[in-house]
Amino acid sequence: NRHLLGIKYIDRNDIDLILDTAKNFKEVINRPIKKVPSLRDITIANIFFENSTRTKLSFELAEKRLSADIVNFAASSSSVSKGETLIDTVNNILSMKVDMVVMRHPYPGAGVFLSKHVKAQIVNAGDGAHEHPTQALLDAFSIQEKLGTVTGKKVVIVGDILHSRVAISNILCLQKLGAEVMVCGPTTLIPKHIASLGVRVEHDLRKALNWCDVANMLRIQLERQDIKYFPSLREYAMMYGLDKKLLQSLDKEIIVMHPGPINRGVEITSDVADSGQSIILDQVENGVAVRMAVLYLLAAQKE
Ligand code: CP
Repeated sequence: NRHLLGIKYIDRNDIDLILDTAKNFKEVINRPIKKVPSLRDITIANIFFENSTRTKLSFELAEKRLSADIVNFAASSSSVSKGETLIDTVNNILSMKVDMVVMRHPYPGAGVFLSKHVKAQIVNAGDGAHEHPTQALLDAFSIQEKLGTVTGKKVVIVGDILHSRVAISNILCLQKLGAEVMVCGPTTLIPKHIASLGVRVEHDLRKALNWCDVANMLRIQLERQDIKYFPSLREYAMMYGLDKKLLQSLDKEIIVMHPGPINRGVEITSDVADSGQSIILDQVENGVAVRMAVLYLLAAQKE
């Protein structure tokens, strides 16, 4: 693969290779000297048409740890606001001899589109409600690190499945690694076609949590909702929010994940997010090693 456009375009061997490589890079970045010269001759442009904290900083750090040259581009302060197209924007950036583009974009399929029109290698850092492949890879890495394996584990993804690229990429990645996946939430936030992906659907949060080994609590994506949704945030928190009382009343000790940003008090309370059962900050830490692995392996495919 020359690009990483989505989990749907890679297979289990690719995922295993990325996770194994990330394990090595995690050791490297925990040493006193964190930097390796692997991408010394590679120039990477980070192009973000949507806001980001974790993904943007994580890619930037991964690139710096690999000794790549980097340029950062935020659409809001660029000539995109004067009407320049995506292809013109990227081609202008590439004419400055850029090898790889890490792109976040609000439109599903933006990365695939770009990969067909420009020469650089493309890494999808989130495209609308389509895919967020590096998030799924770092989530799988974090489960593997905590539980030893992903294969055979039961993972429930709770919340706004309808608008979530994290949910889609996670479902595909976890299934390719041999996990059982369930989605849980109100019917209004679970697309009808989701069952065709081979996932279980559960509307009762307690039942879902008692079934799983790992619960991935998603944020309600208010920015992607063009209709007044049901339930309201207050109703959602009551029916689908995870608090300490519910967590402690379960039949077994589960692991709690969240891709961030958290809406504290909506999908998860602070006493859960900051508890020993939460691996939320491990996910963020692992993101750097996983993105180093992705960039390193893609650079080896450079034509
Ligand atoms: N998880 C995630 O993609 O976070 P950001 O939107 O802050 O990058």
